[in-house]
Amino acid sequence: MSLTDLLSDDARRDPYPVYDRLRRSTPVLHDPRADLWMIFDYEGVKRSLHDHDAFSSSMAPAGRPAPEWFIFFDPPRHTRLRALILRAFTPGVVAGLEPRVRQLSRELLDQAAPRGEMDLCADFSAPLPMMVIAEMIGVPVEDRPRFLRWSDVILKLSYTLSGGEAAERASQEFMAVTAEMREYVAGLSAARRAAPKDDLLTRLVEAEVDGERLTEAEILGFLQLLLVAGSETTTNLINNAILSLLEDPAQLARVLAAPELLPAAIEEVLRYRSPVQWMFRATRRSVQLHGQVIPAGKLVLPVIGSANRDPQQFRDPGRFDIGRDPNPHIAFGHGIHFCLGAPLSRLEARIALSDLLSRARGLRLATDAPWEPRKALHVHGPARLPIRFEPGERATAAA
Ligand code: HEM
Repeated sequence: MSLTDLLSDDARRDPYPVYDRLRRSTPVLHDPRADLWMIFDYEGVKRSLHDHDAFSSSMAPAGRPAPEWFIFFDPPRHTRLRALILRAFTPGVVAGLEPRVRQLSRELLDQAAPRGEMDLCADFSAPLPMMVIAEMIGVPVEDRPRFLRWSDVILKLSYTLSGGEAAERASQEFMAVTAEMREYVAGLSAARRAAPKDDLLTRLVEAEVDGERLTEAEILGFLQLLLVAGSETTTNLINNAILSLLEDPAQLARVLAAPELLPAAIEEVLRYRSPVQWMFRATRRSVQLHGQVIPAGKLVLPVIGSANRDPQQFRDPGRFDIGRDPNPHIAFGHGIHFCLGAPLSRLEARIALSDLLSRARGLRLATDAPWEPRKALHVHGPARLPIRFEPGERATAAA
């Protein structure tokens, strides 16, 4: 068993039977070909995510560029940057985005819904988070296409494993885009310093902790991280919610009858079909886990998607139950790197799904063909999701 076995289209559509088998037999598994260690059980995954003395985030698979993103930093560098960024990315800022998210969601549905069919990805779940991120940062409307192109290139870093021609090409394209973005962000930051606006970029250039500010390179790194961390993931959350509800008519009927269940349903989608299936860590020293010894300096893959189906933690984990309580999933990670965008993606998913479910009556998949997995290897969800429905009225009540 190796990582590549988990990367076939079939395995990526439904990795759960393999996870179940490996979690039982070898919760800590060495892949000799890639010389990496995979962790499949809840406690082990949780430990590797939060125990930063033993597991470092500061790594990049060999042959890949190591982007200067604070998600890959350890304390104390990570602590300093996260504190500065949190000054700009506050709960109030996220809550303030709600009316705009609602408006964007409705505009997208206004275009697609009257047709009675759409590709949920292309028409709704992909553009929505991207537009929200661009607006939040304060990217002028005319520059949005550039941002879209940049985010496509950055995301390509996760289309391949390390080594090989495709990885090399992705890395070169990334470096070219970084140079382009550096110039652009420097210009826009200077404009915000001269004339502050009510946007994230202004708050980032103004953020200060103990007399320290973010450097240009740190702001650029954060914006690059936001482009990929903030869009692809939420797209999958929305898609996976619709997929899971359409596969289980009883659960769909339940949420339609009691829309107040939607937040719990979103948590269950995060657990049942985790949008981010795995992260990377590297051992700082040799680490003992479940009777195995992972040597120092090894690449580790905490498999979040498997941890969230661990029967030691979740009763009947293969059942999609939108009322599951408690639901201590770790889809947003755990510990000092816990997802900064969790409140935003929950907000986006709640608005998007409530809009869609209230306007698209008789929602169904337009094809029985197995869905094609998305290209980024660490995420889980369909690349396209054609759906049909009877167009309904635009909802007027608040979701
Ligand atoms: C369903 C949607 C999302 C999922 C499943 C998700 C998942 C994750 C996970 C698992 C981590 C932890 C990484 C680690 O421990 O190494 C993380 C970190 C992060 N996420 Fe998210 N994310 C989502 C949405 C977002 C959004 C919308 C944003 C921004 C707008 C965002 C920004 C970040 C950032 C900046 C970090 C790094 C935090 C740090 O290192 O301290 N994410 N995310």
